[in-house]
Amino acid sequence: MNTQADAQQRVALQHLQTEQLLGVDFVPLPTGDSREIPDPVGLQPPAGEGPVARLEALRLQVEADFPFCSSLSSATRPVFGEGPANARLMFVGEAPGAQEDQTGRPFVGAAGQKLEQIIAAMGLERDDVYIANILKARPPDNRTPTIDEIEASAPYLSKQLDIIQPEVIITLGAPATKFILQTNEGISRLRGRWGTWEHEDLRIPVMPTFHPAYLLRNYTQETRKQVWSDIQKVVELLGLPSA
Ligand code: URA
Repeated sequence: MNTQADAQQRVALQHLQTEQLLGVDFVPLPTGDSREIPDPVGLQPPAGEGPVARLEALRLQVEADFPFCSSLSSATRPVFGEGPANARLMFVGEAPGAQEDQTGRPFVGAAGQKLEQIIAAMGLERDDVYIANILKARPPDNRTPTIDEIEASAPYLSKQLDIIQPEVIITLGAPATKFILQTNEGISRLRGRWGTWEHEDLRIPVMPTFHPAYLLRNYTQETRKQVWSDIQKVVELLGLPSA
């Protein structure tokens, strides 16, 4: 159980991390078309089992199906995603990079460090959230995923979302946002506006924001403020302590 001093220390640390991350002062928050995503043959984790077992069955399926399509065959291993099966918040990125390919874990490189700072600024730890990508294997030379690669990998992501059923999804960058919201609109127009993941009976709020790698490449006051403003909307919706 946290003491009051612990709680005050935690809030002070969050303020500090937020300022370091975004270069802006911490601003306290105010109080206050369906479509078919394909489900490939054989992607049916055992019905009636809990989310942990279903997620594990899906992970084993991803291992067995790797590399999913010939253009991903230069990848070393699949990168399934990680986090608690009952996570309230799920981040969806684009595709594993070199370090993710080496380790089999999502977001462990420079973009991952920035993502961890964002998570900390929300008052959470990495282990509190689920982190996944659309692509479950690294594309050659880290290029943007092709439509074929997205189609080959996306059903695993859809199934992951169906199992975890987070309260909120944050999409990181254009490919993830376009797939999750099934739109061709650009990320600059979509970011900061709530959308919805609609799949079968599921309706999950989606907050699109810039990819941390984009944030690192364009580390301006304006971009940092935009990302933090997007993230604050999620903090508010989830009623996180930093709100
Ligand atoms: N970029 C992504 O989109 N995903 C990762 O896992 C790493 C970098």
